[in-house]
Amino acid sequence: MNISIVGTGYVGLVTGVGLAEIGHHVTCIDINEEKIRKLKKGISPIYEPGIESLILKNISKERLDFTTSFDEGIRFADTIYLAVGTPTGIDGEIDMTSFDKASNEIVDSINGPTIIVIKSTVPVGTNNSLQKMMNERAQHKVTVVSNPEFLREGRALSDLFEGDRIIIGSEDKEAIKTMERINTPFDIPMVITSPKSAELIKYASNAFLATKISFINEIANLCDLVGADIQEVSFGMGLDKRIGSQFLQAGTGYGGSCFPKDTLGLLQIAKESGMKFQLLQEVIKTNSKQQKILVKKLLTKMDTINGKKIAILGVAFKPNTDDIREAPALRIIEELSNQGALVYAYDPIVEKSNKALPQNIRMVDMIEEALNQADAALIVTEWEEIKKLKAEDFKKWMKCPIIVDGRNCFDPNEMVQLGIYYQSIGRGGEKKSLVLK
Ligand code: UGA
Repeated sequence: MNISIVGTGYVGLVTGVGLAEIGHHVTCIDINEEKIRKLKKGISPIYEPGIESLILKNISKERLDFTTSFDEGIRFADTIYLAVGTPTGIDGEIDMTSFDKASNEIVDSINGPTIIVIKSTVPVGTNNSLQKMMNERAQHKVTVVSNPEFLREGRALSDLFEGDRIIIGSEDKEAIKTMERINTPFDIPMVITSPKSAELIKYASNAFLATKISFINEIANLCDLVGADIQEVSFGMGLDKRIGSQFLQAGTGYGGSCFPKDTLGLLQIAKESGMKFQLLQEVIKTNSKQQKILVKKLLTKMDTINGKKIAILGVAFKPNTDDIREAPALRIIEELSNQGALVYAYDPIVEKSNKALPQNIRMVDMIEEALNQADAALIVTEWEEIKKLKAEDFKKWMKCPIIVDGRNCFDPNEMVQLGIYYQSIGRGGEKKSLVLK
């Protein structure tokens, strides 16, 4: 099939590369010239393990191309995927500016019967309104299908090729058949729903996973108070197939470009439908509390952090990505800086030049540089490289071996035996620290 993808962000690029890999002819369109120039050479604008070799492979097989021109990009397309960003607007609403712009761009270039596939995460009812717009303005028959994505950054390719389900939201038999033909090579179960259900499945899935995380974080906070161990608790809970073991990792709270945005988006959808989604409000509140807990743990040991060197290990919102959007580290750094700490941050791949980094921190190239003579260290992202550190390394490099581990990367007993002050999330930390003192 000839497929065009509008938007070469995470979702668009990964989807485009994946569809080319299973044999379709794919043209990716983006208005950013620099991005397209690099992509043509196989240079990915996003950090995603394995993507560059797949781009190069599919370019060389003449199944993948990139362009900034809408006319050129959709000239031969029978299916157009819309994969532009739908960020959170100033008032918490879902910002559809790019989506509307892209829809307006393509409507005039459509030159034959076309299926438009909505990949972007969009409010319930968007499929209907886009269909209406296309019926009014397009010169040819257009059928709009909703096909939300479930790709995790850093694991997007395996999620694409080994996902749990493909949701196809459509009531048009022909369009459903075409979508089945496109997706059959993935060999992943396909579920046909109404467009509105497909749109809601995306928000509900992300909001549910966020709920799981906030829930387990609250249980971890309770573990700290009662002296239980969150890792034992979540392991024991996760064995129950009705609960499942995934997304039960307590930590510094969820971040990234999806959960924070989509939980707010779902709240907005509920509000506009006249419903107060109290549970979700609490999930969001709980999440923003979690980063403060880390700083609070640090302050139980240090009277003041003013003028102290504090090492932040890991800045990305999770390992295997350079993305720092809504990263818990940013809130933690802000909190520390407000109290006068000198923050030295290390991350294996977040670039020093990243404009979203706070101005008042020092990004260093090596873990040792961050830890050297530090008064305390906070572990924020569970990168393998950070998990591989030895208890002796902290002891050797730091001025005071005070560690607050927001991702439960280390064995508390080993740390304590070496005389390190070690606090983590939900592992009876409060009690252990009292004993230590
Ligand atoms: C998320 C969803 O997992 C994808 O299915 C979805 O397609 C994507 O959003 C999207 O809407 O585009 P992503 O944001 O890349 O993917 O990252 P996740 O791996 O889901 O992690 C999100 C956050 O939750 C991270 O900050 C992570 O550290 C945190 N998390 C995750 C926990 O704190 N504990 C866990 O057990 C799991």
